[in-house]
Amino acid sequence: MPNRRVFLVGSTAALASSLVMPSYVKADTGTRYRLTAERATATLLEDPAVKTDVWAYDRLVPGPLLRARKGEEIVIEFINLLDQPTTIHWHGIRIDNAMDGVAGMTQPAIMPGESFTYRFTPPDAGTYWYHPHNRSWEQLARGLYGTLIVDGDSDPEDFDRDYPIVADDWRIDDQGLIDEASFGNLGDWAHAGRLGNELTLNGKAYERLEVGDGERIRLRLVNTANARIMRFALSGQKPLLIALDGQSVPPAEIEDEGIVIAPAQRADLLVDIRGEPGDEIEIIETSSGNRLVAGYLVVSNSKTLSNSAPERQSFTGLKPNSLPAIENEALDRGGRYDLVMSGGAMRFLASGIYKGEEMDGRTLAQTHQQLWTFNGIAGMADEPLFKAQEGEAVRIRLINETLWPHAIHLHGHHFRILSRSGLDSAGNSVVSDLGHESQAFRDTVLLARNETVEIALVADNPGKWMLHCHMLEHQASGMGTWFEVV
Ligand code: C2O
Ligand code: CU
Repeated sequence: MPNRRVFLVGSTAALASSLVMPSYVKADTGTRYRLTAERATATLLEDPAVKTDVWAYDRLVPGPLLRARKGEEIVIEFINLLDQPTTIHWHGIRIDNAMDGVAGMTQPAIMPGESFTYRFTPPDAGTYWYHPHNRSWEQLARGLYGTLIVDGDSDPEDFDRDYPIVADDWRIDDQGLIDEASFGNLGDWAHAGRLGNELTLNGKAYERLEVGDGERIRLRLVNTANARIMRFALSGQKPLLIALDGQSVPPAEIEDEGIVIAPAQRADLLVDIRGEPGDEIEIIETSSGNRLVAGYLVVSNSKTLSNSAPERQSFTGLKPNSLPAIENEALDRGGRYDLVMSGGAMRFLASGIYKGEEMDGRTLAQTHQQLWTFNGIAGMADEPLFKAQEGEAVRIRLINETLWPHAIHLHGHHFRILSRSGLDSAGNSVVSDLGHESQAFRDTVLLARNETVEIALVADNPGKWMLHCHMLEHQASGMGTWFEVV
């Protein structure tokens, strides 16, 4: 299909950039990749003359699109050309524990100049992404992230074009300089996290994606921001939501307010394009309360021949992956755990345990930069939050007692959301509607302030897995723990 070339452009550019470095030749045949992390420059702002110094995979922001096939091995030979240790985490993949890329837990950090070969067989098709899991709050903010698509949830004739849309907000000045002075700023860490002032889609101030009248398009939205919860809509179009966090959901129309995507979450949309050549469909982001035009789908006069085929008229859904069903009886037998989130601005910790030692909130904040706790513990504990037997159905109540939203991510597994409850303005407990999420398997869930979300999963992937807030500053300042499947 001609439109597949849209992606090949990315890998050709990656090839070209690696040729500049004779020491490192890219061989991206099949699902074998070579990937670097290194310093590079990128054009992130509207003025093409303004360049930004970034850290990037294969010198590209976002990094090159990696494509694998469900059930087939993918091999990524990675070399760290940065002067800081790093790793790669394959976000959302139900991966072998040894390949999960968590520095200090599933592997030692990859030192400058060293390499590491990641090798895994993705069990699920869908939209995933990759990023460092060492000093994530700095390394992602400098540009280290990319999309990983696992094919196998649709047939080539289902979509005329398939576009990842990777959204990030940058804290950057109009000279293109990333604000480095505020890395590690405790004010950000105690509040919402590092929010940027410039939004890019696929590393561009205004992304323009070509579409044709009558075409059926798949858009794969990925939020790679450190902390910004985004909300996207398309002007004059009624997209269908077809997947969340890589896993298919029954197709459902997205309301005019758009779809909320927290840091690390993904949403796949299907859009049937109707328009005249030259029309521009706006990609709109409204998280700040303003209607920000972040990019465009530009209607060209290319028209697909299959436009009138009957299967074009309705879309019954992506082919679901086979995730373990979560049976009620199994849940009754399995473990139940609570994860209480405390701390942050306006509810500062009175005390907490850090590295096994009880200390007051002031010492935690000033001496150890810890501002948040899970069950009274700041940062990684010696003991896991829970240990599950392989195959055990586990229920976890995520209880947000802070005044800030959090995007809780669990490694190696996808989970169901059983319920959401919160407080209304009078402080009464209210149960909220799960909406699209009632049918979803997710790897990251957004909690509002004072909200409790109950999740359930079958712990079927052996190993030690992280569970943390994907607002990366929150993770760095306390909101990270782990569980073990034995
Ligand atoms: Cu996307 Cu623990 O990470
Ligand atoms: Cu958080």
